[in-house]
Amino acid sequence: MKASEILKKEHRVIERLIGLLRKAVKDMEQGKEVNMEVFVRCGSFITAYSDQKHHGKEEQIFFELMEDYGFDKNEAPLKDFLEEHDQARAYTIELRKAAFQMQDDHIKKPEELIAQAHQSFDLLEHHIHKEDENLFPLADSKFSDETQEKLLKQFKEFDDNFPEEPLLKKLDDLEKMV
Ligand SMILES: [Fe+2]
Ligand SMILES: [Fe+2]
Repeated sequence: MKASEILKKEHRVIERLIGLLRKAVKDMEQGKEVNMEVFVRCGSFITAYSDQKHHGKEEQIFFELMEDYGFDKNEAPLKDFLEEHDQARAYTIELRKAAFQMQDDHIKKPEELIAQAHQSFDLLEHHIHKEDENLFPLADSKFSDETQEKLLKQFKEFDDNFPEEPLLKKLDDLEKMV
């Protein structure tokens, strides 16, 4: 398995999370009672899985090695991808904030939470699509076999700090809540 395939597999996990959040948001839009705990826990999951584990590997390893092949983090396309990671992290913080506010009976702002959630979904889906279809195939067309091996080794070391199984268990539990 190539490093880019590991990243693509993680994209599918992030899409599962978006799917369940979309369902919760739709219920809210239809005026149904939604347990705010779902949003709070989804926010924690996005932070751990997407912002730290996934984007961490891309930024600290994958993009880093792309620089050895003439790509520059200060120029397109890497610059755009990095800016979107920052934007995604900022949206996650706002989403969690909106969910906490909703949990407080005195400050109910469903429209804020709904708008925030849609912004996050759109950004992540667009970003994932561009990586799967453009950036990863481009990088793979340049990487040597040696680089591919190096990537896998570094991914494994990085992921020791972010084990997949407990995170997937959390996602399973979240899917049962909506
Ligand atoms: Fe990314
Ligand atoms: Fe990604």
